[in-house]
Amino acid sequence: MEQSSRGWLDGLTAIVTGGAHGIGSAIVERYIAEGANVCILDRDADAAHSLAARYPGRAVASPGDVTRFEDNAAAVAAAQESFGRLDVFIGNAGVFDFNRPLRKFDTDLLSPAFDELFAVNVKGYILGAKASLEALSEAGGAMIFTVSNSGLYAGGGGPLYVASKHAVVGLIRQLAFELAPDVRVNGVAPGGTITRLSGPAATGQAGLHLDEIDGAEAYIAKGTPLGFAPAPEDHAGAYVLLGSPANSRAITGAILPSDGGLEVRGGGRRKKPGS
Ligand SMILES: NC(=O)c1ccc[n+]([C@@H]2O[C@H](COP(=O)([O-])OP(=O)(O)OC[C@H]3O[C@@H](n4cnc5c(N)ncnc54)[C@H](O)[C@@H]3O)[C@@H](O)[C@H]2O)c1
Repeated sequence: MEQSSRGWLDGLTAIVTGGAHGIGSAIVERYIAEGANVCILDRDADAAHSLAARYPGRAVASPGDVTRFEDNAAAVAAAQESFGRLDVFIGNAGVFDFNRPLRKFDTDLLSPAFDELFAVNVKGYILGAKASLEALSEAGGAMIFTVSNSGLYAGGGGPLYVASKHAVVGLIRQLAFELAPDVRVNGVAPGGTITRLSGPAATGQAGLHLDEIDGAEAYIAKGTPLGFAPAPEDHAGAYVLLGSPANSRAITGAILPSDGGLEVRGGGRRKKPGS
């Protein structure tokens, strides 16, 4: 896509972790459409390279694992070398626990599953924040972290996933407090979205993907007032808003839900559309 001369992100550079698939790749494409240059940090090296190759001069791949500080630092260096600056760090790579309840957890698996899931969902965000902090401070930039409805409510995952996403809310609040006024720190909380989101290897769920679960789309749609399961692209605008200093310079420490209205599910029955 050609660079718009009036995009909301003209001239900015962003890193998107987990940017090779799903919500992350939708953010990458929308950021480029809004005028930004993007560095994709993802452990799926082939997919990261092939997405970047579709936008020569506008996107680069920095394959790596977000649970390693060096890989986050390499992405910051790649962004700066390729585009001369870094304005937005988007922590987004994550894994799911496929709603496994505590009662059904094999005791031996609990500890390794916790370590693996928290390493990606929480430590990965902290390491990315640390690696990008200096560049973002110089640029007066922003951090944006993908939360989830599971960061706000129970019932959108099992105890590991829900606890990890609640931890992300705490991380956003603390970093927004610590880094003001230099860097704005916000979150986007998508609701259930049909992607290939996978789980920890420790529970044998690394090869399991959300989009392969029968009935997932209808289940998500039924649970939300707006009545549809969002696509990854439906969340991308929220990240554009929070990454654009011209449009959100007064916003920090906020979590923007993008979940079809879970906050207003209410008590009784909802009316049918149009009635
Ligand atoms: N799909 C949903 O229903 C949903 C809902 C709310 C929040 N989320 C969150 O959205 C984010 C993106 O998930 P998605 O649904 O787009 O899934 P996805 O699997 O399509 O995308 C996640 C990406 O992260 C990458 N990744 C995973 N672990 C990594 C690691 N250790 N290092 C580097 N890259 C890694 C994967 O390769 C993949 O490209 C996650 O934080 C997830 O928790 C998803």
